[in-house]
Amino acid sequence: MCGIVGYVGTKKATPILINGLLSLEYRGYDSAGIATIENKKIIVKKDKGRVNNLYNLDGINNLNGTIGIAHTRWATHGKPSKENSHPHMDNSQNFAVVHNGIIENYRKLKDFLISKGYSFLSETDTEVIPNLIDYYFKNGVHIHEDKFLSSVKLAVGDLEGSYAIEVISPLFPDEIIVVRKNSPLVVGKANGENFVASDIPAILSYTKNFYLLDDNEFGVVSKDNIKFFDNNLKQYEKNLKNIEWDASSAEKEGFEDFMLKEIFEQPNSIRETIGSRFSLGKPCVFDDLDISKEYLSSINKIYIVACGTAMYAGLAGKTVLEKLCKIPVTVDIASEFRYRNPLIDDKTLCIYISQSGETADTIAALKLAKLNGAKTIAISNVIGSSITREADYSIYTHAGPEIAVASTKAYTSQIVLLSILAMHFAELLGSCPLNEIENLKSDILDLPSKVQTILDDTTKIQDFAKQVYTQKDMFFLGRGTDYAVALEGSLKLKEISYIHSEAYAAGELKHGPIALIENNVVVIGIITDEKLVEKSISNLQEVITRGAKTLVITNQNIPNSHFDFVINIPKTDSVISPVLSVIPLQLLAYYISKNKGLDVDKPRNLAKSVTVE
Ligand code: M6R
Repeated sequence: MCGIVGYVGTKKATPILINGLLSLEYRGYDSAGIATIENKKIIVKKDKGRVNNLYNLDGINNLNGTIGIAHTRWATHGKPSKENSHPHMDNSQNFAVVHNGIIENYRKLKDFLISKGYSFLSETDTEVIPNLIDYYFKNGVHIHEDKFLSSVKLAVGDLEGSYAIEVISPLFPDEIIVVRKNSPLVVGKANGENFVASDIPAILSYTKNFYLLDDNEFGVVSKDNIKFFDNNLKQYEKNLKNIEWDASSAEKEGFEDFMLKEIFEQPNSIRETIGSRFSLGKPCVFDDLDISKEYLSSINKIYIVACGTAMYAGLAGKTVLEKLCKIPVTVDIASEFRYRNPLIDDKTLCIYISQSGETADTIAALKLAKLNGAKTIAISNVIGSSITREADYSIYTHAGPEIAVASTKAYTSQIVLLSILAMHFAELLGSCPLNEIENLKSDILDLPSKVQTILDDTTKIQDFAKQVYTQKDMFFLGRGTDYAVALEGSLKLKEISYIHSEAYAAGELKHGPIALIENNVVVIGIITDEKLVEKSISNLQEVITRGAKTLVITNQNIPNSHFDFVINIPKTDSVISPVLSVIPLQLLAYYISKNKGLDVDKPRNLAKSVTVE
């Protein structure tokens, strides 16, 4: 994530750029910056903190440049700091760049540039881009008469990963060059001025006419002209689109709520979590962890500690860690763990999961483990968050900012990252046959497209939501990882629909809870583990006999006629099946809440980060 804006026209660029960034803060907000051109020089103003801080930067209000680029950052490489903020310049200060995305091969490119005499001021992946442009500007074999465009094209040819990029140069003071791959970018057309942005809301108050850039397309944007080029720098015409959104729906990219947008972002957020951590036939890579085979062989237990949804992701992670690494894993609620004198010593590895990285109980539980000599790993979505500053090691989900209070994409990314971590540990330990790890890798790589398949047709879930939204109580049942996901489905429903719900291990039902089942009570069963199908069906049969209305989410061949509703999801390894089975549950909670007319994104009594005990 991150937000970018660009302007070229006759007005002062700075206020337009800052105004645009303010409406993009939902994409990231740990640092911000702008660059403009004045007196044949690039002027950069940037700092750590939110976009509003830009107004306080020395001299920013006196900038008169009428061309500029701007960025609000969501850190991926390097902590939030002034040095790591965008824009970044090359060593000769000929090119300034803002970038949204991740350059996966930046280390290799950095080494190449260092070997050519370039030096670096930041820890970011982005800083290689302006220096590569400068390198090719001076040394490239140019394939277009516009040497600026040609240098950007040659530099971009070396990049692996995702990017939306804007570049300005005092050598070409009237042009912004833009290009994208797997990261959004639009060009807004107006009269005698033109705009660029990662998202439409940033420039919606200036124009309603947009060009939506495609992957590997280049744009050369000047005051009176917008030219587009394909990957071979052949110029061509693009269709202008008129977009009549209001500003708030544009922030949500056309989705009614952030929660729905985040649910639909999951194919991509899972892809970002996988990133370049592994590929088939190669071991997992965790440069950010210094955990050795000797250390892993010396520990006798792992704790996973977290709150709410993050804790439920931990429950799914327990299964995969135990299966692959053969080390016992205990999952604990942070607020309990911190006060019950848990048995921790230097033979304990403690993993803390927190989307925000600011949850008070999780941070306190981490400090406690450190005091007792355990090694600690934080899994977070927010680079530089409090928990990552306390932990021995931090690994990131890279799911992008999660705005809705109800956590969705963070949950699936946490499970994916825990699974990759488990494969990494197992590879170090040699605790699991390599072909099993290889099969799991293949299943993980298939998750984004399988999630997309579920998202492609939500009609059944919407129908079911319409039938049950007036219910007072609901029950979620599952066995094994299906129980872990039942807990998450039940939490999602409670927090945004205010319907009382309970999740039970399906086999536990007859030890008490079955007394609550009566005519028309809704019971949702999750069945994804081949070995447990018959047992789970029998448990559901017990509630059907007592009049329950049932919805089953499954990837198995089960007799549909037994149940009121069946939602089929794609098959995958049962240890990662929660990543798929949770999607219908997230959607169900969402549509029930909408049917009740509730505020989905800001449910009553809840906050996104719980920074108090
Ligand atoms: O930021 P964290 O992951 O530490 O937050 C933990 C819980 O507060 C959070 O998951 C909460 O349960 C969500 N609202 C659930 O949707």
